[in-house]
Amino acid sequence: MKKKVIIDCDPGIDDAVALLLALGSAELEIVAITAAGGNIAPEVGFKNICRILEHLQHKKWPPLGQGLPAAAQIPGAQEIHGSDGLGNSHLPLTKTPAPRSAPELIIKTIERNPGQISIIATAPLTNIAGALRLKASVAEEIEDLVIMGGAIEVAGNVSPRAEFNIFMNPQAAREVFLSGAKITLLPLDVTQKVIFTPEHLERIRQSEGPAAALLSRIIPHSFKTHAQFEGIRGCYLHDALAVAARVRPSLFKTRRLFVDVETRGELTRGMTVADLRHRSRTQPNMDVVVEVDAEGFLEFLIQRLSLS
Ligand code: RIB
Ligand code: CA
Repeated sequence: MKKKVIIDCDPGIDDAVALLLALGSAELEIVAITAAGGNIAPEVGFKNICRILEHLQHKKWPPLGQGLPAAAQIPGAQEIHGSDGLGNSHLPLTKTPAPRSAPELIIKTIERNPGQISIIATAPLTNIAGALRLKASVAEEIEDLVIMGGAIEVAGNVSPRAEFNIFMNPQAAREVFLSGAKITLLPLDVTQKVIFTPEHLERIRQSEGPAAALLSRIIPHSFKTHAQFEGIRGCYLHDALAVAARVRPSLFKTRRLFVDVETRGELTRGMTVADLRHRSRTQPNMDVVVEVDAEGFLEFLIQRLSLS
């Protein structure tokens, strides 16, 4: 039985890799894809989803939604993902369906598949919180929610303590974290343990499939920005781990924790605050991924994207 997933994303280079992995995973049935504001404006993200589907000559496009802009803006976010959000690859686009409201599409899709939907959120949580504000019972009606976001015991990537997806809309993140939904959180602590290198890209390139062609056009920009801003050879693929968490959960280890979000701190806005005390007095509200088999994930990714 395929797992029905909604992917809420802000493509974005690593979101694009996450979409390629999801579209190339027979275990998943993608029942909706929604664009959130974050790396790029939601309308640009929406078009980038269409570009990726068109590039893959994907037969039956799932319903597509578009959300409202994220609450914050980050100067220089475009540098990381390129002016078009996809590494300045300027992929062609000939057809753009009319976008539906992301929160409403999320709610409708869940109503049609009660208890069966896994949401994979790889962007600021504006759309997810929007759906919860329209219909709070969504939190109980989904099977679960995988979120790429936060930094538990490592530094942030947009401030000393905040990770981008949470920083961009901390109020939305807090509402989602405290909603009662069954959450798995993939923070920077884990996503930064996986580095995709030029050698990994070369192995996929040899497969000469559509996924390889797309990666060859978008990943080199990421190699450049990671060398410049992270001082690493290769790049992180934060969002692709969120898809893998649903397709190959055995690659990850989790810990039950209570995690909340700082929404007001002058220095700590967007910080994910986990209760790590030995005798914590708080009821855990999520499974936080604390370990990843990095090599195993990379081999899985290369194998899957070589077949796509
Ligand atoms: O901090 C990493 C996250 O921010 C990823 O989702 C990346 O796409 C950016 O949105
Ligand atoms: Ca993203």
